[in-house]
Amino acid sequence: MHTRVHGKHGDFAIEAKGLVKRFKSGRGFVEVLKGVDFDARHGDLTMVMGPSGSGKSTLIAALSGLLRPEEGRVDALDVDNLWKLSGGKIDRFRLDNCGFIFQGFNLFPSLTALQQVETVLKFQGLTAGQAKKRAALALEEVGLGHRLHQRPAALSGGEKQRVAIARALAKDPKILFADEPTSALDGENGQIVIRLLRRAATEHGAAVICVTHDPRLEAWADRVIHIEDGVIIDDQRRTPNPDAVLASH
Ligand SMILES: Nc1ncnc2c1ncn2[C@@H]1O[C@H](COP(=O)(O)OP(=O)(O)OP(=O)(O)O)[C@@H](O)[C@H]1O
Ligand SMILES: [Mg+2]
Repeated sequence: MHTRVHGKHGDFAIEAKGLVKRFKSGRGFVEVLKGVDFDARHGDLTMVMGPSGSGKSTLIAALSGLLRPEEGRVDALDVDNLWKLSGGKIDRFRLDNCGFIFQGFNLFPSLTALQQVETVLKFQGLTAGQAKKRAALALEEVGLGHRLHQRPAALSGGEKQRVAIARALAKDPKILFADEPTSALDGENGQIVIRLLRRAATEHGAAVICVTHDPRLEAWADRVIHIEDGVIIDDQRRTPNPDAVLASH
């Protein structure tokens, strides 16, 4: 089990209250988050499920300081209301504490696997030597020790997603956001990815918040939250099975 020293919000890595997000639509507004309360604990894999358009990606963006909500607050780690900070401080908070994994991998085409991971670590202030060592370790951890010098074009979808995971995990983030991390992958690669997310929670104590359409991923979750039309309609704790098998589509 993890031994992380928790912040002043106790077991909660993140706690949001009353999030409202509206987008302009024609002459009016559509409300995409309708007063959402959300929290996630260190060491938990928290799954957020819901139909397309229900507000899952918008919620992740509001929680992580990427998209300012019209109403509500987000307490995260030692910060009382992230949205009260300046833009620069929000960016710094994200860089220091959050990892991101997206459906589309978001890799730089011209960088090798090693360079993708090193770049983030150098941004964080590691020396070139430290960054290289840590990046290589992170890639080995996701089983890509033999692919360090390949560029994305030479990697399979599953390998690309593992590079993205290594990049997110290399800085040992306290909060890990994953938005549909398995939807572009087959069953076997999806299983590798969800197991890595499970491990980030169990072994590193990260609060892993994973958005997905795929009900098969529930097997690995400590908690499953359902959102529909900008409202949380269900929130269940469950016992994860780290050895679950993800059948192919
Ligand atoms: N920048 C924007 N401007 C206007 N409307 C937006 C914007 N971003 C999202 N929306 C709308 O907000 C709603 C929720 O979008 P969101 O991306 O959060 O859904 P989602 O649950 O992640 O869906 P999916 O499963 O398809 O990724 C959608 O109706 C979408 O069209
Ligand atoms: Mg989405």
